[in-house]
Amino acid sequence: MSADNRKEASMADQADRHDIYQRAVQNPEADIEFFQKIFREVRGRDPLTLREDFCGTAYLASEWVRSDPRRSATGVDTCGETLAWARGHNIEPAGEDVSRRIELIQASVLDNVGPVVDLVCAMNFSLCLLGTREELQRYLQLIRRSLATDGIFFSELYGGTEAIIAVEEERECDGFTYHWEQERYNPITHEGVCHIHFSFPDGSRIDRAFSYSWRLWAIPEIRECLLESGFSDVRVFWEIVDEEGIGTGEHRETVEEENQETWLVYIVAPV
Ligand SMILES: C[S@@+](CC[C@H](N)C(=O)[O-])C[C@H]1O[C@@H](n2cnc3c(N)ncnc32)[C@H](O)[C@@H]1O
Repeated sequence: MSADNRKEASMADQADRHDIYQRAVQNPEADIEFFQKIFREVRGRDPLTLREDFCGTAYLASEWVRSDPRRSATGVDTCGETLAWARGHNIEPAGEDVSRRIELIQASVLDNVGPVVDLVCAMNFSLCLLGTREELQRYLQLIRRSLATDGIFFSELYGGTEAIIAVEEERECDGFTYHWEQERYNPITHEGVCHIHFSFPDGSRIDRAFSYSWRLWAIPEIRECLLESGFSDVRVFWEIVDEEGIGTGEHRETVEEENQETWLVYIVAPV
């Protein structure tokens, strides 16, 4: 290669999209603290077995197992490449004691795989990847059957006045900028197309690092499907925002709220 052809790799070229995704949008320690608090309050014991559906890099599953030597986890995702990344970056480097307590299964969440567990979670709006009510209902029925008799399902949903328009927002992270783009939203079907992009201080970008086509479910639709699937209760925990409307990571249980530009909730359904 001549000197003219040799170009220094840009920051985007050097970045690992899974690594920066995890750093930009996930906070498994906070999720686990929340799961643990609610499970103890409702069931009076510690949850030990977890299934992380739509697990992607299994970041949450690996933190779950690291958080207590008695804990084990199963991760389910359709994407073999992402699961391979999970093994190579989140699981094997954590050592034998962690890796022997995590099983990753390449399958659809509709395939009914994995053992009976204390807790199933579907984080970061993954329920929206199920595009029809029939699929959502089938999924929730399968979860109901794969939970222990005192098990609990945890999921996360977003919405708000800005969730249903084409919009792009950005947030500074350590060493890069995270961009969330809602390219389009169809009010007739509630289907949307969204993308995650990353940009870097040297001007380079990873456009469409991740793209999603999904159905933006409303909280009452999820609630009705959970109750119809045999869950005994559905509780909504709203993320508290500061004066500037930025999420604080703290949640309070609620049944009535004023709409916001964007809101995030945990939806909790005990068996
Ligand atoms: C929104 S990401 C969630 C990643 C991560 N769990 C998180 O909380 O950020 C969605 C993941 O779901 C996976 N996925 C999509 N449809 C699926 C299905 N039917 N069954 C299992 N995984 C699925 C994708 O491969 C992708 O890794």
